[in-house]
Amino acid sequence: MNRRIVIVGFMGSGKTTIAEALGRKLECDVTDLDLFITEREDRSPAEIIAQAGESEFRNAETVALRDVLENNEAQVIALGGGAWANEANRALVAAHGCLSVWLDAPFELCWERIASSETIRPLAPDRATAAKLYHDRNESYRLSDRRIRVSSDDSPTAMAEKILDR
Ligand code: S3P
Repeated sequence: MNRRIVIVGFMGSGKTTIAEALGRKLECDVTDLDLFITEREDRSPAEIIAQAGESEFRNAETVALRDVLENNEAQVIALGGGAWANEANRALVAAHGCLSVWLDAPFELCWERIASSETIRPLAPDRATAAKLYHDRNESYRLSDRRIRVSSDDSPTAMAEKILDR
């Protein structure tokens, strides 16, 4: 594989677990951008958003993405749900020749996972807010190179296989 894969999609679409499954299949390194930011900033995206605001987080996200694309060996990169909505981030991913893959999961599935997860998602505090964001974001997700539909029946490994088939 010579093109790096960048996984995009809404919160709860399974980006992190599917990226890990893909990494196991390809026997390659995986970087999760939110984790990278957490380690670098010593606080999670949720904490940055709560303490400094979303725009500060978006700046940190773009700086981190550039750093990962320029200096990191990972062949698979999972973005946070909002990263792909930022045109500058899409341009960075394209400039580095990566293949963007959208995990297109139905809203109900994303919301179920958001609501039951321990991960704090400050931008999806309730169902209505999350649903609006989901619909707003779809326009940018459509700009990715590949669209892979996700259903609750698919295991992360099955999803990784689907991505490789495509
Ligand atoms: C965000 C999604 C989160 C995280 C931050 C903002 C978003 O990542 O980056 O809370 O704007 O959709 P996940 O998609 O991994 O939950």
